[in-house]
Amino acid sequence: MGSLISTISTNNRSEALSATADKETQTILYLKKKSLVSIGKGAFGKVYKALGSDTDLAESARKSAKKIELAIKFFIPFQGVSSDESQLNELYWNFEIQEIPNTPKVLYSDPSQDQQMAFIITPYYGPDLRSQIGKLSIDDIEKIAKSLLETLKALEEHGIIHGDINGKNICFDGKNVTLIDFGSSLFILNSHKSCLITTSWYRAPEAVIQVKNYTCAIDMWSLGCFLFELYTGKALFPSRDENPITLMNTIVDKLGAPPPGFFLNSRFAELPEFKELPSSYRSFLPTNDLDQMFKEKSDQETNWKNKRNAENLLDLINKMITYTDRITPQEALLSHSFFNERVY
Ligand SMILES: Nc1ncnc2c1ncn2[C@@H]1O[C@H](COP(=O)(O)OP(=O)(O)OP(=O)(O)O)[C@@H](O)[C@H]1O
Ligand SMILES: [Mg+2]
Repeated sequence: MGSLISTISTNNRSEALSATADKETQTILYLKKKSLVSIGKGAFGKVYKALGSDTDLAESARKSAKKIELAIKFFIPFQGVSSDESQLNELYWNFEIQEIPNTPKVLYSDPSQDQQMAFIITPYYGPDLRSQIGKLSIDDIEKIAKSLLETLKALEEHGIIHGDINGKNICFDGKNVTLIDFGSSLFILNSHKSCLITTSWYRAPEAVIQVKNYTCAIDMWSLGCFLFELYTGKALFPSRDENPITLMNTIVDKLGAPPPGFFLNSRFAELPEFKELPSSYRSFLPTNDLDQMFKEKSDQETNWKNKRNAENLLDLINKMITYTDRITPQEALLSHSFFNERVY
């Protein structure tokens, strides 16, 4: 880890962040005048695209330095950086992940709490993957899956859960993949006191029932769901609402009943309406719907190599969306046939 990150990891995070904050308010005003193009509006911020320089924004604002596309995220309202681990926010995470591959690299930020709006500037990493759902080749999906697994492997080594993997939070410029939006991230060590807010269709079953400690395996589940959707064009667990019972039923319909003991040690197991669930699931067998949905797409592959790769992808997805003992990023990268079998 670099010195900045270790400084932040030790004690006074807000001080370290302020020390690195760039106060180029004039530059931002300049960029604002230069017409920012709105590219996203989420729960916590508004994101704009603009042209600027990756070395000296002020300089580029003044004259013609080499321009690159930037993404500027304004946080509204800004809550400030708290030393309480459970309230860490995206600004903090963006510093914590500087050495993780395929994550946003911070060019400028202003986390100051006295300002109306805090902002963070990173390079623009291309459109998010929502627009590519159902349209990418199996080769592109292999590239994307590999990059994201490398990211998840590094996050796991640092004890970090991304917490919101889905197509909105993955950018792809045709060549490189970037996992963005660390606004829901948490340290595994603190997962017992954090409230996880993963987008519901990609929420792992143990997060649905709120087990008392989360692990990086919840990111694996989300990625498995998303890879399925990216290839087939169809969401795997499209629950009609956020209710945990509806979410759980949607999963059980496709995967069958969770293994015995799955509901132990979960917060919802204590609720009266959940008490009935484990026994009502007992008779549920896996429906195979998932394999069927996948094959509707993979049957359209015209050459043998792509068909074989699609079979390998399905096998990998099945290992990413198990209730327990999910494949880890390291295992997938090192030994799964989707990445390691040479098909000619
Ligand atoms: N660096 C970037 N490069 C390209 N696009 C970006 C970048 N940062 C954000 N975006 C776009 O802006 C959208 C919203 O950004 P982000 O997910 O960081 O905000 P958010 O407020 O957390 O949104 P949400 O609540 O919808 O997750 C993303 O889905 C993506 O399309
Ligand atoms: Mg987002």
